[in-house]
Amino acid sequence: MRDCAATIRRTHNGETMSTINTARNSSEIFAVFGNPIGHSLSPVMHNAAFKRMKINAHYVPFCVKNVEDAVRGIRGLDIRGVSITIPFKTEIMAYLDEVDESSLKIGAVNTILNDHNGRLRGFNTDWSGLISDLKESLEIREKTFAILGAGGAARAAVYGILEEGGIPIIVNRGVERGEEMAREFGCSFHPLSEIGTIKADCLINTTSVGMAPDSERSPVMREHLPNFRWVVDIVYNPLKTRLLRDAEEAGCMVLDGVGMFVHQGAEQTKIWTGKEPPRPLMRRVVLERLRERDGN
Ligand code: ATR
Repeated sequence: MRDCAATIRRTHNGETMSTINTARNSSEIFAVFGNPIGHSLSPVMHNAAFKRMKINAHYVPFCVKNVEDAVRGIRGLDIRGVSITIPFKTEIMAYLDEVDESSLKIGAVNTILNDHNGRLRGFNTDWSGLISDLKESLEIREKTFAILGAGGAARAAVYGILEEGGIPIIVNRGVERGEEMAREFGCSFHPLSEIGTIKADCLINTTSVGMAPDSERSPVMREHLPNFRWVVDIVYNPLKTRLLRDAEEAGCMVLDGVGMFVHQGAEQTKIWTGKEPPRPLMRRVVLERLRERDGN
């Protein structure tokens, strides 16, 4: 890759050539793969962290058309680390050299490390990001958590709650999918239609219900929210979802989705660099970007 860039540039202009080679030799490339990817907040968050950590690196978004080809690109372009987002978190696992135990159990990878031997290793920081965020505000051990949904995000939440000694209760609209997941993780299940009968320390919405542009929708009717002390929404667009607004009115304590997003990104930085990233700065730049988008 370096040789190609040098050869092409040499025929045009010696000065540009040396700039490219300097950048490529000393700076590492990181990326996010998704489709669509235009609205991803990961580049602004990770680039701010690298800059503050004085790591010479660039983090770039790629809209992926074909996962297998994209994984070849990681090796071919010597990309050091990749974040994986919707809809590739499960499909990409088949093309990696190894995946850690949490990714296997959750069935999804959101982080790839291209180690120094060219081996691509998959990790999942969605669960650890959520747990880091919850632990800043509430206890998990022996507490009950109603997890709304049965997709990849719900699986990460259930895995994390179990790891921390909490008690997950799966609540899903689709009965078959919810029951199957409950069997797999060894926890209880209720159809969403029975939400009014469930009491728990915390409710975590892992579905996309309430995400913009459908921001007036909520997955749970307001009258059922007093059954939960805490209500957490992993949706962060809008920041204050209808669910969280209703929950506050019902007297619940609430956590928005920015915390999980920032912590899952920070855990990725730790995997890639071995260093603790500046989480408050990452949070600040994400919030700034979200507010810009809201026009506030
Ligand atoms: P992800 O992997 O991002 O979590 P997913 O696999 O598409 O996404 O799962 C989305 C979850 O949100 C599912 O549990 C889905 O419920 P079903 O299994 O019944 O489809 C849930 N979901 C999506 N739209 C919903 C809605 N309008 N009301 C309730 N649950 C909904």
